[in-house]
Amino acid sequence: MTSQEIRKSFLDFFKSKGHTIVPSSSLMPDSPNLLFTNAGMNQFVPIFLGEQKCPYDPARATDTQKCIRAGGKHNDLEDVGMDTYHHTFFEMLGNWSFGDYFKKEAIDWAWELLTEVWKFPVNRMYATVYSPDKSLGDPSEFDQEAWNFWAEKFTSVGLDPSIHIVNGNKKDNFWMMGDTGPCGPCSEVHIDLTPDGDTRGSLVNAGSAQCIEIWNLVFIQFNANADGTFSPLPATHVDTGMGFERVCSIIQNTRNFPVLTG
Ligand code: ALA
Repeated sequence: MTSQEIRKSFLDFFKSKGHTIVPSSSLMPDSPNLLFTNAGMNQFVPIFLGEQKCPYDPARATDTQKCIRAGGKHNDLEDVGMDTYHHTFFEMLGNWSFGDYFKKEAIDWAWELLTEVWKFPVNRMYATVYSPDKSLGDPSEFDQEAWNFWAEKFTSVGLDPSIHIVNGNKKDNFWMMGDTGPCGPCSEVHIDLTPDGDTRGSLVNAGSAQCIEIWNLVFIQFNANADGTFSPLPATHVDTGMGFERVCSIIQNTRNFPVLTG
């Protein structure tokens, strides 16, 4: 598939699941706490916070968002040129539920797109789930629900969920747009790119180019307040972000990515 075909295939997939395809917003964000647009969800902040009514029916959207992460909470600049998978500018493919579907559908559809439509080798896939480190004061609880949904998927293809699901604390598995704003526990998909694809989760979130995150599914449930507290939002939402250049690299087996043999 060409990159255009990959982008279209993502958007068409979510359109077939009732999502409205919306344009990327500007790189200049509305939020005063962001330097540039840093995620697909930026343009939807007023909907998550209940300040604006969702204009889509059903309350779902999908897009590909232009992003720059050059400061603040998400700053990739130190990594650009140092590894093979961070860029100054990137596109983030995403799907959103505004108080509509939640964890089950988000995980079902991520699995369906990756394994059935794009045919990613399941044995190379790892999912992470939120496991707060209470000694560090991490908010909320272990995401047992997401763990159970992923476990069903891995078990259905004969893989051991205790190996293919990796726990992460607030640093890796609680996504926040900035120090304030909508946030919640997240579940990421990582791909093992080693020649044999048998690292059993040991490279997940280890800073290795041989096992990289391709998709982050955020379950937005809180607003982070300026005083460091978290308030529950009036509804729960889904916010996902997929690294377009990363999936293209993998699907197309471009330079520095090994051929996936399954
Ligand atoms: N907003 C989430 C992220 O950027 C999906 O990772």
